[in-house]
Amino acid sequence: MVREREQWATRAGFILAAVGSAIGLGNIWRFPYVAYEHGGGAFLLPYLIALLTAGIPLLIMEYTIGRRAKGSPPLAFRALSRRAEPIGWWQVAICFVIATYYAVIIAWAVRYTGFSIGQQWGDDPEAYLYGEVLQTADEPGFVSSYVSGVAWPLIGIWVVTLGVLAFGVRRGIERANKIFIPLLAILFLVLVVQALTLDGAADGLDAFFSPDWSAITDGSVWVAAYGQIFFSLSVGFGIMVTYASYLHRRADLTGSALVAGFANSSFEILAGIGVFAAIGFMASTAGLGVGEVLEEGGIGLAFVAFPQIISSLPAAGDLFGLLFFGSLVIAGLSSLISIVQVVISAVQDRTGMPRVPAVLVVGGGIAVVSIVLFPTGEGIYILDAADHFVNQYGIAMAALVAVVVVAWMLRALPTLQVHADETSAIKVGRLWLFTLGVITPVVLGLMMWDSLRGELEAPYQDYPGAFLAVAGWGVAAGVLLVGIALSLLPWRQADQLVRVHGDEGRV
Ligand code: ALA
Repeated sequence: MVREREQWATRAGFILAAVGSAIGLGNIWRFPYVAYEHGGGAFLLPYLIALLTAGIPLLIMEYTIGRRAKGSPPLAFRALSRRAEPIGWWQVAICFVIATYYAVIIAWAVRYTGFSIGQQWGDDPEAYLYGEVLQTADEPGFVSSYVSGVAWPLIGIWVVTLGVLAFGVRRGIERANKIFIPLLAILFLVLVVQALTLDGAADGLDAFFSPDWSAITDGSVWVAAYGQIFFSLSVGFGIMVTYASYLHRRADLTGSALVAGFANSSFEILAGIGVFAAIGFMASTAGLGVGEVLEEGGIGLAFVAFPQIISSLPAAGDLFGLLFFGSLVIAGLSSLISIVQVVISAVQDRTGMPRVPAVLVVGGGIAVVSIVLFPTGEGIYILDAADHFVNQYGIAMAALVAVVVVAWMLRALPTLQVHADETSAIKVGRLWLFTLGVITPVVLGLMMWDSLRGELEAPYQDYPGAFLAVAGWGVAAGVLLVGIALSLLPWRQADQLVRVHGDEGRV
């Protein structure tokens, strides 16, 4: 017997959950450092172009594929064609990997929320982060020491995440987001207003908003902008397909995609404003230019530069810290929930397992990997390599393959267009077909080429070859191979599921 698929209680509930998924560590932790590393102001224009030419069109495509088949990514792609099923499993495997390390960053943020009271990082936040908190090993490698101070909050994060998921789509995910999103909006607005009142804030904003035309000709800026949009919007890794699969048959798709897309980017730009205002303050205190003030770029920006900024604030430093790290925790949790749900929902579709056992077995499995691998001296290196490779050659590559297969091999866009238009107030026009059929594959293809070339010329972060072969290339190839392997297993009830839940047969 095929079980009734769960459904969102309201459209607003779905949009909140989609926005909750999109707004995450990508917006607060990742966007500012990616923007900073790519010239600040130079980044904004490619970023907005990436949003309009790839992010939103792909979001509409994923909503349509998910709602049409009412299935997790493997089932939803299979509903288009049996040959497309591996893309769905590939995305599921990507979510598995991302969830394992994503949770750890939230765990760091939990600790830093506590450290904000009394600014416990002291005078040297960098030494504190790597020495005390993460106890980072001197070299990348494989697990040698375990850091229980990170493990405990991490276990807490997993308990909360799996607890919410066990309540299901409506009573768990939808309700949690109804609390998380308004709370996040309030915390973050107070934070940004506080940042804007600091001395030097205007210089920081100047750096953020002045386009640097020379950097725009740099291919890597574009690669980073498209990569950021995918990660941030939660497109390319099956989340939006999964969330849309719980939509009512008549729900508006295009409008929801526009709301979610613009809400996410508005929040991201707001985060950029807050962070750059704070960096401007730091520069003015140090008597330096905005571009030269940060020693720490990359993943430490939030956990090194922010503590430094907080410590030098004239007043209310603790509050600023609580707001910043608290926002990171809330934003991260609502996204982690969505990432894990992709894997759970795929396993449920595949095996018919009821929700709670699936949460325990599948979610529990991801949690165990996360808890074993990342609170270790080497965890940060594994995280950094896995994040880079799974983004570049997982999410972005899967997005490229998905558009090429859907648009060119299956020629399914016109069918999807009819499906989206049937229930949407805003109709997707030729522009949608053109962006997905031409612009997205061309830009993504060029981006992939450029990025691969760079990778081969200079190993990522100069990490040792053996380490990158496993934690970088190995992870990227692993998710693809696992995806292909899973799609080869016979799946007899799939066609029945597609018939029962989906609207139409194959294209
Ligand atoms: N979209 C999520 C984020 O931005 C994954 O962090």
